[in-house]
Amino acid sequence: LSEPSVSRALLAWYDAHRRDLPWRAKPGEQADPYAVWLSEIMLQQTTVTAVKPYYATFLGQWPRLEDLAAAPLDAVLRQWAGLGYYSRARNLHACAIMVMQRHGGVFPAEESLLRALPGIGAYTAAAIAAIAHGRRAVVVDGNVERVISRLFAIESPLPEAKAVIRAETDRLTPNERAGDFAQAMMDLGSMICTPRQPQCLLCPLAAFCVAKAEGRAGEFPIKAPK
Ligand code: ADE
Repeated sequence: LSEPSVSRALLAWYDAHRRDLPWRAKPGEQADPYAVWLSEIMLQQTTVTAVKPYYATFLGQWPRLEDLAAAPLDAVLRQWAGLGYYSRARNLHACAIMVMQRHGGVFPAEESLLRALPGIGAYTAAAIAAIAHGRRAVVVDGNVERVISRLFAIESPLPEAKAVIRAETDRLTPNERAGDFAQAMMDLGSMICTPRQPQCLLCPLAAFCVAKAEGRAGEFPIKAPK
C-alpha cells in the first residue's frame, strides 16, 4: 500500500467534499488554536450537530482565550449546561488559565506541552498540533480507528489493535497538510466509512481497501468479546 497515493486520494476528496464547520479555517488559512481547542474539547463525547450552538455561544461570550480564563467558573459551567460530562468544562476553564500563565495565552505546538494541560490527552494534543499549528502529528479517534482497521483488514480486536492502528496511521500521515489529513479521515469515517453499511461506492480509498476487496468492510473494527 503506497502511502503518498492514499493521502493524495484522501486530500483530493477532502478538497472537494469537506464539511464546512465553524471551527475550520478556510482553505489555505491557518486555524485559530483557541477555536480548534474549544471545538475539540466539546466534540469529545458530543456530536457535531449538538456542539454547534454551544460553540457559537462560547465564542460569542468569550471571543479570546484570555476572556475565558478571566471568566468565573460558574459562568462557564452555566453555559456548558446540557453538553454533559461537566469535568470537561472544569478542565476547559483550568486549561485556559494555565495557557495564560505558562504560555502567555498562546497554545503550544508541542504535543508534550499540550498533554500537560488539563483535559488534553493524546488525541486532543495531536489534533491541536496538526489542525491549529500545521505540525505533523498522528491523530487517532474512533472514526480513524474504523477507517484504518478496514483499510488494512486488521484482524486483531480492539483495544489490542490500537498499537497497529496507530502505526499504520503514522505511516499514512503526510508531512504536509497533516491537519487536513486528520480531518479528512474523520469526515470519511462519519460520512462514508460509517459503522453500519459503509458507502464503499463513494469512498475515495475504495481502491486501496483490503476489507472492501474481501467484501467485509462492515466487519471491522473487530471487537474483543465482552
Ligand atoms: N470530530 C472531532 N474533531 C473533529 C474535526 N476536527 N472534524 C470533524 N469531526 C471531528
